[in-house]
Amino acid sequence: MNYRNALNIDDLRAVARRRLPKGIFEYVDRGTEDEISLRGNRQAFDAVKLAPSVLVDVSGRSQEVDVFGRRQAMPLVIAPTAAAGLMWHDGDVQLARAAAQADIPFCVSTQSMTTIEKIGETGAHLWFQLYVWRDRKLTHALIDRARDAGAETLVLTADTVVSPKREYNQHNGFGIPLKPSLRGAIDVASHPRWLLSVLFRALMTEGVPTYVHYPAEFRTAITRVASSDALKLADNVKWEEVTELRRRWPGRLIIKGVLRANDAQKAVNCGVDGIVVSNHGARNLDIAPSPIDVLPRIVDKVGDRLVVLADSSVRRGSDVVKLLALGAHAVLVGRSVLFGLAASGEAGATHALELLKAEIDNTMALLGQTTVSQLRECLESVSKVMTSAPIGG
Ligand code: FNR
Repeated sequence: MNYRNALNIDDLRAVARRRLPKGIFEYVDRGTEDEISLRGNRQAFDAVKLAPSVLVDVSGRSQEVDVFGRRQAMPLVIAPTAAAGLMWHDGDVQLARAAAQADIPFCVSTQSMTTIEKIGETGAHLWFQLYVWRDRKLTHALIDRARDAGAETLVLTADTVVSPKREYNQHNGFGIPLKPSLRGAIDVASHPRWLLSVLFRALMTEGVPTYVHYPAEFRTAITRVASSDALKLADNVKWEEVTELRRRWPGRLIIKGVLRANDAQKAVNCGVDGIVVSNHGARNLDIAPSPIDVLPRIVDKVGDRLVVLADSSVRRGSDVVKLLALGAHAVLVGRSVLFGLAASGEAGATHALELLKAEIDNTMALLGQTTVSQLRECLESVSKVMTSAPIGG
């Protein structure tokens, strides 16, 4: 199937699956450990129902939202993902162009394979995602670099204090560092189009893909382990450090990976501007609740003081609509656009965003709602009221 014939994100996923080596496809697509949380995310979305208002004039529909005072054409943000550069040559740039075209923010990952400066040349509205390294001086230098490159919003990822246990990567011979393995070599060799258009092209232009935001003296190809403990994920970051970060960062500050209302309140106390209610696409903690299950309680507690964003396992416009109806101000998408990117670069990512946009529009019309703020009125008609008790206070 050509990406243009993809009628939904699942179709794009099928195209991506064919194009990518299995190890890379599964790295993007799958969850962690027994994938309980991955299945749970979908079950939680599917369990939410919204009843429509009928006989409403919906001819003037708009899905525009305001995020930090910036009006955007659709209620999405492209989530930070480390692997865009493995989906397509210059994948981060292609994704950022798709974001610019759709008029939505693009969040650059600490671990992206293209520099924020180069991504900035696309003219996309940039956010920067931060993983705190053990060496805080280097971490602070990275933040300064992101600010100088024009990032207006800093997204501190709080849910990845250690590397998660994703056994399928080991089974597939795929992991960072990339280790040569017979299985991996056969996998790559059986995807010659990817080998030529992504891997060879990278080798011919920039060389072996690397984490370009790592300081030059420590930078390693993704075929080698980080040469220094300084750049390992910090496992001792506390709320006090968020307050310190707040003082350092002049722009908007978001904490990503919040699943408890108490933590959302702590974010308010630290003076942050927003949170992402997220279980990291079910890629980290396999016993984590689904964002949509805990969202109402969090919105109830802090929704009037923080911009509350949400993500994880969004595959349909109706998923976005459900999160908005339950109080999210906007929604991040990761894999959905990565599948589009893997299928056909910028055009494929744009196709993914257009599919979601059309589905959001369609769902809003069928619900009898013309604006995103009206969608919240659907809350009254949410027929499923938290079957699982929200976790956390
Ligand atoms: C991610 N995610 C992620 N998050 C982050 O804060 N920094 C990162 O570098 C990455 N890298 C990353 C790589 C890949 C391949 C994926 C799929 C995800 C998590 C991401 O920002 C987001 O929370 C999830 O992707 C949302 O779920 P969906 O939309 O992918 O299902």
